[in-house]
Amino acid sequence: MDIGFWIMIVAWAFVLVWIPFIIYSNRKTHPRALFVLFFAEMWERFSYYGMRALLTLYMAKELFAALAEGEAKAQALGIYGSYTSMVYLTPIIGGILADKVLGFRKAVIFGGLLMTAGHFALALEGMVFPGNMNLFFLSLSFIIVGNGFFKPNISSFLGNFYGLNDSRKDGAFTIFYMGVNIGSLLAIVTCGYVGEQISWHYGFGLAGIGMLLGLLVFWLAGPTVFGKKGINPSSVENFPEVIEEEDIKLLHGTKADRMAALEKDAENFELVQDAKTKRNQWLTYVVTLVGIPIVSLFLNLSDAVTLALIILSIGILGVLFAMSLKQDTKESKERLWVVMVLFLFHAVFWALFEQAGGSITLFTDTNVDRVVLGSEIPASIFQFFNAFFIMTLAPVFSIMWVKLRASKKEPTTPMKFVLGLAQLALGFGVIVVGSKFFATDGLVPVVFLVFMYLFHSTGELSLSPVGLSMITKLSPKKAVGFVMGAWFLSIALANKMAGKIGELTASEDISENATLSETLDVYSSTYLTWGIFVVGGAALLLFVLVPTLRKWMNGIH
Ligand code: PHE
Repeated sequence: MDIGFWIMIVAWAFVLVWIPFIIYSNRKTHPRALFVLFFAEMWERFSYYGMRALLTLYMAKELFAALAEGEAKAQALGIYGSYTSMVYLTPIIGGILADKVLGFRKAVIFGGLLMTAGHFALALEGMVFPGNMNLFFLSLSFIIVGNGFFKPNISSFLGNFYGLNDSRKDGAFTIFYMGVNIGSLLAIVTCGYVGEQISWHYGFGLAGIGMLLGLLVFWLAGPTVFGKKGINPSSVENFPEVIEEEDIKLLHGTKADRMAALEKDAENFELVQDAKTKRNQWLTYVVTLVGIPIVSLFLNLSDAVTLALIILSIGILGVLFAMSLKQDTKESKERLWVVMVLFLFHAVFWALFEQAGGSITLFTDTNVDRVVLGSEIPASIFQFFNAFFIMTLAPVFSIMWVKLRASKKEPTTPMKFVLGLAQLALGFGVIVVGSKFFATDGLVPVVFLVFMYLFHSTGELSLSPVGLSMITKLSPKKAVGFVMGAWFLSIALANKMAGKIGELTASEDISENATLSETLDVYSSTYLTWGIFVVGGAALLLFVLVPTLRKWMNGIH
């Protein structure tokens, strides 16, 4: 039996033991809603990363099989780049629509339906209309638009279950983030295996089934676990300042408690389901469906997407600033400034972190000694370490934040960002040291790669879930969806930058027949400049800004 199969079995077995353990050990600390959102997001990410694992290979080997190999690869990578950045561009619109028209719950369900349709259409494309490019692009667009409704809003919604300065919030987002990575871990090993070994279409179909499961979890558990939260658009909601006693009962109490609390909740959050809201909601659904084919036209226009991304990012920072000036209080004004500053550092982090799927995988392929116990491990498998480290270390971080908080030693959010960037730089440091001092014949021992992934993952845990949590704390309540969408834009921008930085490692001055030591030099000097100097510099700069940002957060940590 091949190694891919066994990795898949071991991963599933591990997860099946791990998840109950995590839920059991956290059941008293966190509301039930966390676990429902955890599962929904886990399956959604399963579908996203599952299809992503197959996408480039499928395009290069199957869809563009008629082209010359180099050309097929270039086409595939171009479309892949546009796809991954557009996926994080639509959350801006999805976030605004959730705030103003749909409410978080309808937005998540609508997005989930669109994504399910997209995945199944992709499977269908291969089985019934093989090679139909229009259908292929249309399927991707369903996923792009669906993600815009689903992904930012499920994160914002989680924030609703915790008070403003609730010490459990960062911990909750860390557990939620673990769900993200369990989904991606299972997807990489399962869809990758099924897609490559059995059939592409089954791989894509499996992604669709994952998404459908996520949707069902959210839909069915909603009425009993979420109360009335997320039904109205947040812009019309009257949020109580603190989580009320009823809420606490709703989240933790006995069944009778919960039923009583639900009734009370219904009075608090009177439903705004007037004719006008209803009409706007239907209008949103219809306009979105009409818009999807238009989105598909952009998939082939890589440069246009880059341009749109840059313009949008500048524009959105401008909108955030304008929004800050319109705030009634100095506190909420300055809090938005913190979001704007961290937007830039967040983008730097992901631009280098995302080398993992690009240049680092190619580096692993050519310059890492991958022979372990006599057999050579395929380069793509190494990305699995990231998801694995996140999955196992997330509970540690979640508990650590709560504990540090109790002893008043918890770092502030900007300080956690400094730590995240510093660990990212440290990871690149490990690789550079390995390349410069420990390589033999241009091959770096594999242990350096594993430690790099370890530091990148702890860096990610210090920054990414904390960033999501922060958005739900620092944004004006009625516009959380929009600010979350803006936050995702920094990831879209970062994915594009990642491609550009990755290209540096494949620059023209490396000739076709460069020796391994020559390619190693190119990788290590690119990582030295970008991974260590730029990221380390960013960490230092942010460190200097911490006191100011802390002041601007006005009491929120
Ligand atoms: N791995 C993360 C995820 O899929 C990347 C990410 C972080 C995306 C933050 C969006 C926002 O969720």
